Amino acid sequence: VVKQIPRHFLSIRDITREELLRLVERSAEIKTAYKANYAARKPVALSGLEGQNVAMLFSKRSTRTRISVESATTCLGGNSLFLGKDDIQLGVNECMYDTARVISSMTSGIVARVNSYNDVATLAKHSSTPVINGLCDTFHPLQALADLLTIKETFGTFDNLKVAWVGDVNNVLHDMLIACAKLGIGAAVAKPKDVSIRTDILALIKEAAKEKNTKIEFKDDPKEAVKNADIVVTDTWVSMGQEAEKEQRLKQFAGYQVTEQIMELANKSGKFMHCMPRHPEEVTDEVFYGPRSLVFQEAENRKWTTIAALEAFFVNRGNIL
Ligand code: CP
Ligand code: NVA
Repeated sequence: VVKQIPRHFLSIRDITREELLRLVERSAEIKTAYKANYAARKPVALSGLEGQNVAMLFSKRSTRTRISVESATTCLGGNSLFLGKDDIQLGVNECMYDTARVISSMTSGIVARVNSYNDVATLAKHSSTPVINGLCDTFHPLQALADLLTIKETFGTFDNLKVAWVGDVNNVLHDMLIACAKLGIGAAVAKPKDVSIRTDILALIKEAAKEKNTKIEFKDDPKEAVKNADIVVTDTWVSMGQEAEKEQRLKQFAGYQVTEQIMELANKSGKFMHCMPRHPEEVTDEVFYGPRSLVFQEAENRKWTTIAALEAFFVNRGNIL
């Protein structure tokens, strides 16, 4: 028997530009079908996980990722098993290797929200079934998919757009930059001087930028970064796991809050995005709840893009095109 090596989705790095575009397109098809059929009270013909289980290995909190994965699994006919950090033996009585072997032997796919990239990579390495990263310290590919769908719905295209990110350099930004680089969406990141992007991540972004010759810039001044931006994005300054550094981080990022004044320096039609959960220090209420904000559409799009991702990796086993 030839052992089949599953195709995992740990970062936008793992898929090609064409696959990325197809996943966004498929998400839009699914969303349209659901909205139309919901109004007409007709079921949508999505399938592939009947009689199968998706394991959700979540060692951190989640609202959007949890709901989108659980509901996406149901849409595809399957059942999800939510395995929180206090529910299973991992980390207390059992190592990742044993956990990976056991969980994958009983399920058709794993969505994992763990702490380090090393944890999700170890899980994937020893899993006999596909693993999708539901956020680790380095990547958040499902978020990037939802953000791209939101951008496509808003601007109708990925061409001639500029994203400006203001704030921390983190998991969400890493996959967003890889995605922008692949699709030719220009990006400027405003971050404090003492916060740097990891060299290995920068190398991934540069590699991804080659095909479309995408311009990705790093600046200190938010006012500079948001010039000519179509989309201004930020995320929390204190990611899960960094709670002990909260005080120091709030000081470090002071001056990087997205305010109405910052938004006014972006393009007239410029929009605001945030993966949520949000804290007021990184963006004012005025912007977050204001007319330029796409945040709730972006959150809802987690569901449609997650259906497309589960279908691609768990049903179609990584055959996306
Ligand atoms: N954006 C996001 O991943 O949200 P949750 O942490 O609530 O899943
Ligand atoms: N950067 C945040 C994203 C949460 C969805 C975190 O890692 O906590």
